[in-house]
Amino acid sequence: MNELIQLLPKAELHMHIEGSLEPELMFKLAERNGIELPYDSVDELKAKYNFNNLQEFLDIYYQGCAVLQTEQDFYDLAWAYLEKAKDDHVVHTEIFYDPQSHTNRGIPFETAINGLYRAFDDAQNQLGISFHIIACFLRHLPEQDALDLYPKIFENRDKILGIGLDSSEMGHPPEKYQKVFAQAKKDGFKVVAHAGEEGPAAYVREAIDILQVDRIDHGNRCLDDDILTAQIAKAGLALTVCPLSNLKLQVVKDLKDHPIKTMLNKGLMATINSDDPAYFGGYINDNFYQLAEAVSLSDDQIFTLVENSFKASFLPESIKEIHLKALNSFGSHE
Ligand code: HPA
Ligand code: ZN
Repeated sequence: MNELIQLLPKAELHMHIEGSLEPELMFKLAERNGIELPYDSVDELKAKYNFNNLQEFLDIYYQGCAVLQTEQDFYDLAWAYLEKAKDDHVVHTEIFYDPQSHTNRGIPFETAINGLYRAFDDAQNQLGISFHIIACFLRHLPEQDALDLYPKIFENRDKILGIGLDSSEMGHPPEKYQKVFAQAKKDGFKVVAHAGEEGPAAYVREAIDILQVDRIDHGNRCLDDDILTAQIAKAGLALTVCPLSNLKLQVVKDLKDHPIKTMLNKGLMATINSDDPAYFGGYINDNFYQLAEAVSLSDDQIFTLVENSFKASFLPESIKEIHLKALNSFGSHE
């Protein structure tokens, strides 16, 4: 089973680049930039990676962002992820980044996007991994902040394919961002939103009805509402599911309780992703390995999840076809 997971070319659709900042790189960048971290060692930092909920994780994650100062820092961050992605046979990735986590610290908008874009562009040539970049708004901040930032995103539309919504979900329903999402949609951006990770099924419904998302990030809690679940399945709207994140943020108590099979059985287009791999204990293949073991995924189910990663991607249909054909040549399906 692990050989099959390793073998299959796959796409990753839910990965926050700031969440791929490994403790070792965090320390290296802190030193390079003369930044004092509130931890004395990598081990002391790693000992903090025990989270009771999303907010406890976010507090540490935003603290980590402080070491990212220069365009080269963002380049190095992205390159480190891309090498892991290559090892896991990722051939296409659609990554998130949080512009406000940087602009609110006084880092110019261009510093992050230019460093990230250059790394992904180099990787496309050197590692054969294609990519899209999705800029996420921090939902704990007012919508006005997102509206104020939006012109920068629009200016960089040659580098940014879509917009997303992340950070603290509870108390910050999708509806709060309807103006900026409507504008982005009108301007031709893809739109996605985290919904139903900790928040209720009603937030998933709002993301669909009000923000008109092209994909739902997480979406686990849609399962609390049978009618909504059936609608999502019928519409073929994909969920970017993140098993190790769900475990580490206590969305599920045990990986054995993960609802992935229920999702597939209900006809949902579920995909497997790593979310914040440096914080949650593994990259995309680790997510597949541990989930497959915990809930006994069949080879067919693994194949379907990987197939979904291309179907749910924002690649042009003609390119999707090429990836799906290549996948089928592995022939373990049917
Ligand atoms: N959920 C919400 N916001 C985030 C996450 C997440 O898992 N990772 C980074 N920002
Ligand atoms: Zn996420």
